[in-house]
Amino acid sequence: MRNVRRCLIAFLIICSFTVNAQNSNAIKMDNFVNSLMKKMTLDEKIGQLNLVTPGGAVTGSVVSKDVDTKIRNGQVGGLFGITGPDKIRRAQEIAVKSSRLHIPLIFGLDVIHGHRTIFPIPLGLSASWDTSLIRKSARIAANEATADGLNWVYSPMVDIARDPRWGRIAEGSGEDPFLGSQIAKVMVEGYQENDLAKDASVMACVKHFALYGAAEAGRDYNTVDMSRVRMYNEYFPPYKAAVDAGVGSVMTSFNTVDGIPATANKFLMTDVLRKQWGFKGLVVTDYTAINEMVNHGIGDLQTVSAKTLNAGVDMDMVGEGFLTTLKKSLQQGKVTQKEIDDACRRVLEAKYKLELFDDPYRYCNDEREKTELMSDANLKAAREIAERCFVLLKNNNEVLPLKKSGTIALIGPLADNKRNMLGTWSVSGDPEKSVTIMQGIKNVVGDNVNILYAKGANISDDTFLIKRVNVFGEEITVDKKSPEEMINDAVATANKADVVVAVLGEAADMTGESSSMTHIGLQTSQENLLKALVKTGKPVVLVLMNGRPMTLTWEDEHVTAILDTWFGGTEAGNAVADVLFGDYNPSGKITASFPRNVGQIPIYYNHLNTGRPYHPGDSPKFKSDYLDAPNTPLYPFGYGLSYTTFSYGDVSLNSKTLRPGGKITASVNITNTGTRSGKETVQLYTRQMVGSIARPVKELKGFQQIILQTGETKKVSFDITGNDLKFYNSDLKYTEEPGAFKVFIGTNSADVKEADFTLEK
Ligand code: NOJ
Repeated sequence: MRNVRRCLIAFLIICSFTVNAQNSNAIKMDNFVNSLMKKMTLDEKIGQLNLVTPGGAVTGSVVSKDVDTKIRNGQVGGLFGITGPDKIRRAQEIAVKSSRLHIPLIFGLDVIHGHRTIFPIPLGLSASWDTSLIRKSARIAANEATADGLNWVYSPMVDIARDPRWGRIAEGSGEDPFLGSQIAKVMVEGYQENDLAKDASVMACVKHFALYGAAEAGRDYNTVDMSRVRMYNEYFPPYKAAVDAGVGSVMTSFNTVDGIPATANKFLMTDVLRKQWGFKGLVVTDYTAINEMVNHGIGDLQTVSAKTLNAGVDMDMVGEGFLTTLKKSLQQGKVTQKEIDDACRRVLEAKYKLELFDDPYRYCNDEREKTELMSDANLKAAREIAERCFVLLKNNNEVLPLKKSGTIALIGPLADNKRNMLGTWSVSGDPEKSVTIMQGIKNVVGDNVNILYAKGANISDDTFLIKRVNVFGEEITVDKKSPEEMINDAVATANKADVVVAVLGEAADMTGESSSMTHIGLQTSQENLLKALVKTGKPVVLVLMNGRPMTLTWEDEHVTAILDTWFGGTEAGNAVADVLFGDYNPSGKITASFPRNVGQIPIYYNHLNTGRPYHPGDSPKFKSDYLDAPNTPLYPFGYGLSYTTFSYGDVSLNSKTLRPGGKITASVNITNTGTRSGKETVQLYTRQMVGSIARPVKELKGFQQIILQTGETKKVSFDITGNDLKFYNSDLKYTEEPGAFKVFIGTNSADVKEADFTLEK
């Protein structure tokens, strides 16, 4: 007892010490910023709100002009798009040596799934369901970014997306708010390490606030309109999780919300973000998002810039609406001095926390640049991380893993293609340094396997699409041979082999920003190739490279196995080979439903029940269904196979009633019933059977990863408390409602065992 008391006292002392230290840091920062701001002119304050890009990494259609002069004149707060200690030192020197108050710049960049060492695209990373691995990917990215001169990354992107037509589904963690929130949290932790003053910490920027993933028809930048209940319950949680994890900055989104562009939306930026969630950091617009409000029909540049500041936004990315109009708006009473001061303060505070006032060059370390970028350790991690992201969608006759002997026909436009391995938003990645699948296979099997190669098809033969996709370089190359000749070559090659590995899918920039598609299946060129390969009668393993859930109904029926590898990053080729040959047993599970066809979109597992739900076997008339397709997706959320099999026992509950403040425990026994050890992600869902508003048929509430040896059984338990059952009701009150619940545990959202319990008053 005495020990417990001593521990408690020690703990309280540590807590009070930490709180005191935090308070005294905050006071120091306040004093510093106050005294600096006293010296600043109005123009200099407005200058801090200006974020520009000289256009190194081109991520938008406008590039800032006269950047050096503006820095010198104190008209720039931060710079993005350039990397490397040299370039960054040069720009910083202008700010620190030549501007009147010597205020340093912050340097940002889109570091989305790795910096120089590229990891799988975020949708792929999320398919690992491995939060410590995802944290590690962010940590490595932060290490590399800071070694390359940067201190601010525009990540994590946490927009919930239920529409695979939207190209940016590749950049997020899929359709689920719970999983999305866990990932948002660990990414912020990985980037910021809870202390921006550390040498290898970067300020993260959660984006795009808010609801960008719900763009109508999956068309980028399109209108968003949704109920408050849906916003709070389904779309807001990951942004909030990032804020709760201490994210330093937030980026606005391009879309409207309630008819008001998010960037000037006071409800979002002030009421929700700052007042309800207590966010104290920096808010930056997306690229020219202020100027785009002129097209939204909200007013001229002066009006929209004023409205953006009024809404609670601090920094203007590229558009220079703040720089050119705020002074006039202040004179005309459209903005207040306090609004300008608050925004300026938040920019300066970010710089202070990054300790740039102490040492403006702290990220310009040539030694670190040499040793830390793409280090062996980082590449090793990239390989391990990639392996864990791949999802086995089908594996008939246990064709996978492949034997490390015999002859393989390696076919397809992506089989030996460096250019497309990194996927979208890999602005600092070097495709030339990526490992192709052909190379990876050779690395893993050496001379033991005879590898025959044929390209077989172009990624696409659609000239219009090719032109659109190839804006930043030739991702889709058109072969000299005709499509028929290529297919004939491929078939002849396949006929000589024991097994066909067809590496097909999308070019890197068929997803990402401004890359929405209405056809999300394989391009006709590749479909024709695949059909010809299947016709040979050889087992066909489809290795898919893709940035979105694709429609694979024909493929699922006809090919022997499908391994989804997303865009796996720098080490993708090695990682794919590890999985194909069984050195790693696949364990990924998809985080966005794969529709059977585009007509089913939007499709997601956590939908409402409707008043006329259709159950297979029901008489279908007057039910909520389609005449020509099932309601269910081809592959449901959480789905993914292994080279082994797992069997789930029944769900047992330690109590049928959950009392207020209490908890119940739901458990299942899971057995590895196959012939090799494997990792399983065990998923917990609940359903509130009766509520004050209609509630989803299932909601993910937890998951655990276990490794089971052949024949081994493990009991997996989840605690459920009232907190886990909370949701926002129609008054937007976050509450739990007593009554009947179901709990489900299973291997994916559609294949579960269930039990019932009651939440008491
Ligand atoms: C526009 C994109 O929407 C955003 O995600 C990105 O961070 C900025 N451009 C900067 O490149």
